[in-house]
Amino acid sequence: MNLNLIKEIFLDTNRLNKDGIRIHSDSELEEMRLSCKLAAETLDMIGDYVVPGVSTERINKLCHEYILDNKAIPATLGYRGFPKSCCVSINHVVCHGIPGPKTLKESDILNIDVTCILNGWFGDSSRMYIAGSISKKASRLIEVTYKGLLKGIEVVKPGNTFGDIGEAIQKYVESKKMSVVRDFCGHGVGQNFHSSPNVLHFGEKKTGSILEPGMFFTIEPMVNLGKPETKILSDNWTAVTKDKSLSAQFEHTVAVTSYGVEVLTLSPQDKFYPL
Ligand code: MF3
Ligand code: CO
Ligand code: CO
Repeated sequence: MNLNLIKEIFLDTNRLNKDGIRIHSDSELEEMRLSCKLAAETLDMIGDYVVPGVSTERINKLCHEYILDNKAIPATLGYRGFPKSCCVSINHVVCHGIPGPKTLKESDILNIDVTCILNGWFGDSSRMYIAGSISKKASRLIEVTYKGLLKGIEVVKPGNTFGDIGEAIQKYVESKKMSVVRDFCGHGVGQNFHSSPNVLHFGEKKTGSILEPGMFFTIEPMVNLGKPETKILSDNWTAVTKDKSLSAQFEHTVAVTSYGVEVLTLSPQDKFYPL
């Protein structure tokens, strides 16, 4: 192979657009589908175990083993010192809850976030679960958070901007008198866990980078019943609402395609939305 050809292939598979966002090929999309499917299957699998009395460590262990059994690696384990294979964030915990001996109680709502590395590709998704029966205000929060994610996904197509995604989510959530967390965002994903760009869940239309086919990123809005402010606990990970209000989150990994969007972390068993 001549040198120019080698260089062209290299450029093709490592192409960054003018904003430094990785543009992926169709064969890379194939790889990404597999990793994202495993993340979704892991979240499907864990649903049956989310019941009052179960410890978050048990949820972690089940996710850990399922991911390894499927020839993948849990991306969060050891990531910047994070000690577990998934995040479990209960009630007023916004994100990055660390699994441990704590057990679920009746009517707890929780987000479980898993990221698989399969053949070097990262698939990242999270959903809400309910231990036992759900309260009215928690079910409204979960519904608004899920629909907020869908509002963001709906505007993903070439030519639209990242600001369009943030605006769509914020407008919808605030119309329901809930708040969008500002301190955490979605992210580019692919052969790295977190890459450019930051995908904000608030913002203005027609701002930010333009969406192009071949971009892979997450949309993962966190919505609070109270104020948007968060703080980090002394474990240096667990983010909670400052006002102790309930918080919810859903996360999909998506690909921009020539015609619009492909949601890569759809539930094979149609269990993504728990209500
Ligand atoms: N999966 C989370 C995300 O959606 C990141 C978790 S990082 C951890 O981006 F270290 F907290 F696990
Ligand atoms: Co993510
Ligand atoms: Co995640």
